[in-house]
Amino acid sequence: MGKMAAAVGSVATLAAEPGEDAFRKLFRFYRQSRPGTADLGAVIDFSAPRGTGPGARKVVRSQLSVSSVSDHDAHRAGLQPVSKWQAYGLQGYPGYQWHWVKQCLKLYSQKPNVCNLDKHMTQEETQDLWEQSKEFLRNKEVNKRRPRSLLEKLRWVTLGYHYNWDSKKYSADHYTPFPSDLAFLSEQVAAACGFQGFQAEAGILNYYRLDSTLGIHVDRSELDHSKPLLSFSFGQSAIFLLGGLKRDEAPTAMFMHSGDIMVMSGFSRLLNHAVPRVLPSPQGESLPCCLETPLPTVLPRDSVVEPCSEEDWQVCTSYLKTARVNMTVRQVLATDQDFPVESMEEKKTDITTEGFCHLDDENCQVKRVKLNPDS
Ligand code: OGA
Ligand code: MN
Repeated sequence: MGKMAAAVGSVATLAAEPGEDAFRKLFRFYRQSRPGTADLGAVIDFSAPRGTGPGARKVVRSQLSVSSVSDHDAHRAGLQPVSKWQAYGLQGYPGYQWHWVKQCLKLYSQKPNVCNLDKHMTQEETQDLWEQSKEFLRNKEVNKRRPRSLLEKLRWVTLGYHYNWDSKKYSADHYTPFPSDLAFLSEQVAAACGFQGFQAEAGILNYYRLDSTLGIHVDRSELDHSKPLLSFSFGQSAIFLLGGLKRDEAPTAMFMHSGDIMVMSGFSRLLNHAVPRVLPSPQGESLPCCLETPLPTVLPRDSVVEPCSEEDWQVCTSYLKTARVNMTVRQVLATDQDFPVESMEEKKTDITTEGFCHLDDENCQVKRVKLNPDS
């Protein structure tokens, strides 16, 4: 409580913008925050300070459905037995996080999935971001002043029912198969949280650099809000702001660390939220300790996660030293529901609706220009 007052005090010192709501005020505060200073004193940390080992994680009473997921299925998805999970924070086996990071960079970024680069580049140019970027990334230290590789220009990828950023809708006619490994992981996590029968139908993957932000928004485009939204974070830590149903409610700030899973369900499913800040690693460009080990020891025969080769690991490591990757998984339709039939009128208004640029909300125009491959 005392800590919160300190942060609110500092916010007041920021030049107030006319008509600014409480959420936006704190968004600006954290966007400008200095890591390692009192600025972050009010940010809730679900984990114990780094370096004191996984056992030191703050224990929050969790209400997980331990019997819904067998230890074996958890293991297949690269997760610890549900009995070991802690509310909001779960420590994956070292090594397993790499599987998801590698999938986000190497596999999910490929066609038929959709990404931000598609608008500015041909299919041939975006064909294999990984192949085109891996040498660049492995030599990152040597050549700091080189142009950004394609992977470093990647901001978002959509999976399954592809989210339309302009109409803010999903539609039946823009669908490609959802990755089965990520669907399996999501089903286990949802079941452990009491949501049996969760169907992973759409995904938005966010690729953050240290200067990226995610604007204040509510995820309301899914048609069944009784289903949870799952969010998995990897790489550098971020400040996550969770607000209220309205923008004029001040948000609560919390850290989102590598391996953390956030489940937004029930009342929190439709709350305003944002990521105003990705934090650089405390000791220069380094990795969170849970990502230091490349390979898991033993995997079950029917595991959905696979070992990451030394070579792939090097590329991922180089990328993640200055980046954060976030996967969000959504069930769009209620079980057995179909998309409602849209009239021609509704389709027309879709196109004219003002577009919402998800990542880098603030500098949307500027960033879009920067994505030009010639620059
Ligand atoms: C989203 C989202 C949060 C994050 O993709 O809708 O809110 O932690 N992501 O990146
Ligand atoms: Mn969201």
